[in-house]
Amino acid sequence: MKFNLKSASLLILTITLVGISTTTFSRDVKITVNEETQSLFSGWFSGDKSGVAAVNNPLYLDECGSCHFAYQPGLLPIASWEKIMSSLDNHFGENAELADEERAQIRNYLLDSAAGRTNRKISVKFIRSLRDGQVPLRISEIPYFIHEHDELSRKMVQDNPEVKSFSRCDACHSDADKGIFDEDAINIPGFGRWEDD
Ligand code: HEC
Ligand code: HEC
Repeated sequence: MKFNLKSASLLILTITLVGISTTTFSRDVKITVNEETQSLFSGWFSGDKSGVAAVNNPLYLDECGSCHFAYQPGLLPIASWEKIMSSLDNHFGENAELADEERAQIRNYLLDSAAGRTNRKISVKFIRSLRDGQVPLRISEIPYFIHEHDELSRKMVQDNPEVKSFSRCDACHSDADKGIFDEDAINIPGFGRWEDD
């Protein structure tokens, strides 16, 4: 590499910039208590957004999205994810066991963004509706979920060959993979768009 004045001054500029950002960063770290608080704050700022944050972890998408929809972390409380991740050998009648390292990575991802660590409306409503000490293993066991889906008939869900179970969020919610569950993006197979009255 030719070392001339231009690249030398660029180098100095870079070092200075890195220096400045490192200083700013370490100052930030002092006032930031921990990751939990950080994600709580980012949650507060997105509080008015509908839906939950989309899945952004490729390992999770691969491993936990192979048998069913990759449920977003914000759809279940921390205790639920902990319970699910510690009993993968007996997962709703299936064996979904993972290598230790992968399990640890996925567990961290889920716990970091679980409902209770974000201020997204759905997450907050889900959490608030839980009975004291209730640790649901299914999203569809959460009281607010049950309340929101109580107008649906068996014909539309359990007896609908294209749905079969409430666990198949993406069968009806067209933008489920984006974390969007709004009423205007619902299409029940065989019944069409959902019109609330
Ligand atoms: C071998 C297939 C398989 C794999 C892999 C798998 N699951 Fe499941 N999972 C199931 C089955 C079967 C059900 C029950 C679905 C039903 O009742 O329709 C289920 C249900 C769930 C539910 C409850 C959904 C509801 O109704 O609210 C959650 C949450 C869940 N799985 C999380 C995970 C996570 C996290 C992983 C990755 C660590 C994972 N699953 C990997 C088979 C699997
Ligand atoms: C059989 C179709 C179907 C399935 C499967 C289904 N939903 Fe829904 N969901 C609906 C309908 C219809 C509504 C709107 C009900 C109403 O407005 O009365 C709804 C409403 C909701 C709402 C409230 C939306 C709002 O704006 O208040 C949330 C959140 C939601 N669903 C999440 C889920 C999740 C998560 C899953 C999977 C675990 C799921 N749903 C599975 C049909 C479905």
